Amino acid sequence: MDIEAVKDRLLQAAQKAKENAYAPYSHFHVGAALLTTNEKLFSGCNVENTSYGLTICAERNAIFQMVAQGEHRIAQILVIGDTEEFLPPCGACRQVMAEFSNPETIVYMCNKNGQYKKTTMAELIPYTFSLKEKVNGR
Ligand code: THU
Repeated sequence: MDIEAVKDRLLQAAQKAKENAYAPYSHFHVGAALLTTNEKLFSGCNVENTSYGLTICAERNAIFQMVAQGEHRIAQILVIGDTEEFLPPCGACRQVMAEFSNPETIVYMCNKNGQYKKTTMAELIPYTFSLKEKVNGR
C-alpha cells in the first residue's frame, strides 16, 4: 500500500476512535491509530477518570492494544484532536511511543479537519531515554 493510502486508513481509524473518546472532564476528544511493521492496525481514544491523573491518552491506548495483541514495532502513528493546530502527542506519550518505535517511525499530527504535519520520532523526541542501550548484559 502506498504511503498516502496508509495515511488515509490511519486517519479514518483515528477519527472513528475519537468518536468513542471518554472525556467528560476536559471535553477534549482525541483519537490515535497506528500501523505496525507487520502492517497490523490499532486505534485508541482518550479515556478520562474522575480521579484525573488516571486518564490515559489516545496514543497510549492504541499502543497498549497493539502490545496486547503481541505486536511491538510501530511503523506509523497518527493522532487527531478537535484543534485548529496540528495536535502534538504529550511528553508521556512520546516516551511510550519511543519504546516501540525507531527514529524513522512516521508521526502524523492532525488538526480537526484532518490536515496534518508529518514528522518522525527522531524529531519529536531526540535524546530518548532507554535502558536497552545503557544496561549491558541484561
Ligand atoms: N490527550 C490525549 O489523548 N493525547 C495527547 O497527546 C494529549 C492529551 C487527552 C488526555 C485528556 O483526556 C485530554 O486530552 C485533555 O488533556
